[in-house]
Amino acid sequence: MSEDSKPLKSCRICNNTNLIKYLDLGSTPLANAIIKKEDLNKEEKSFPLEVMFCPECCLSQLSLVVNPKIMFSNYPYRSSISKTFIEHCKEIATICQHSYDVKDSDLIIDIASNDGCLLQQFKVMGSRVIGVDPATNLAEIANKNGIKTINAFWSRDIAERIAKEHGHAKVITAMNVFAHVNDLNEFVDGVKTLLDKDGIFIIEAPHALHLIENTEFDTIYHEHLSYLLVKPLEKLFSKYNMNIFRVDETPIHGGSIRVYVAHNESRHTKDPSVGMVTEKERNGKLYRIEGYQSFSKRVEKIKQDLNEILHKIKNDDKVVAAYGATAKGNTLLNYCKIKSDLITFVADDTPEKQNHFTPGSRIPILKSEQITIQQPDYLILLAWNFAKELMKKTQDYEKNGGKYIIPIPEVKVMTSH
Ligand code: TYD
Repeated sequence: MSEDSKPLKSCRICNNTNLIKYLDLGSTPLANAIIKKEDLNKEEKSFPLEVMFCPECCLSQLSLVVNPKIMFSNYPYRSSISKTFIEHCKEIATICQHSYDVKDSDLIIDIASNDGCLLQQFKVMGSRVIGVDPATNLAEIANKNGIKTINAFWSRDIAERIAKEHGHAKVITAMNVFAHVNDLNEFVDGVKTLLDKDGIFIIEAPHALHLIENTEFDTIYHEHLSYLLVKPLEKLFSKYNMNIFRVDETPIHGGSIRVYVAHNESRHTKDPSVGMVTEKERNGKLYRIEGYQSFSKRVEKIKQDLNEILHKIKNDDKVVAAYGATAKGNTLLNYCKIKSDLITFVADDTPEKQNHFTPGSRIPILKSEQITIQQPDYLILLAWNFAKELMKKTQDYEKNGGKYIIPIPEVKVMTSH
């Protein structure tokens, strides 16, 4: 793709051209395109943010595909910033070791391996690990930390190269990347090529069930091209003679699914968890457009409530700051049209984000120490999915009278107990 973006012409799983729009968040800048101080006078590009439903396979997907090179060649998000996520990665490595007999000599591949957070856990178990990540800055960090990382987008060519040089993989993981991929056919084809006969492919992604039920609309941004359910994934893998044999539900990122996939002729047999999760999807009415129809009204209500509360706080001469210069926070701020007159700064522990500005809303991003230094009256948790961890980190702020605002699933002012 040479241009900045292109419209989606048909469903990326089943090619259906009759897609139905159910949400329009307007036009927003890219959620991770944080702004440098010297670029504040430059105009930002923004792109329409609309979600479509495919009535054939039930995949929700954006109406527009932004060129991935713009979004992922330099990426400010570092997985290892969150302790919760490091623990989560440990759990995945342990499952592979205990339930799937991963041994020292086995090859583990992580696609979109970020700073090597997950592979680190496999490495301490003694496995051979290779990461693949398109972000030059992240591949550099990972390689420096001893996690061999190929700086590239995942492709069939990369898969063939790894298979030739290192053999087939016992485990391939794709954490929070599957929803970012436009050409799922090329992606799965590469996995199929590299995966060992009895190997497992593990995808983790936010579950669209939680997106809809908990109005997690802020997780919608241009990087997330698809909003996943198990049902459309089953359809996708069946095209490659592969199948989903287990699904775990995990609370990470507001409620995700961990989907285990194997070759049809492998030794893995179907676990009841697959049927249990698809049953929940069916009961949530997510296999029909009717299940999505009240979603946009609930999204609008969050916008109204949040504006109301922030304006009231401002009128009372009180101050609001935020914690987490997250991508999802940027969807929330831009859709709700909240700027630096309502939120004075956003704290974030990622060094690459500090002293920059949030895209669109242009709020300064500062070190989290500023929370205790400035002691705002309210702290809105833009990384509400890590609320527990953030509240623990800001205990002093709370002891000094600070309160929290949680925007999702509905706007709430609260303390940690
Ligand atoms: P996440 O919800 O994963 O973000 P996104 O919406 O971008 O996927 O939260 C990660 C962001 O939150 C990242 O910018 C770092 C920040 N963060 C901190 O600064 N400190 C913390 O303790 C945690 C948990 C997150």
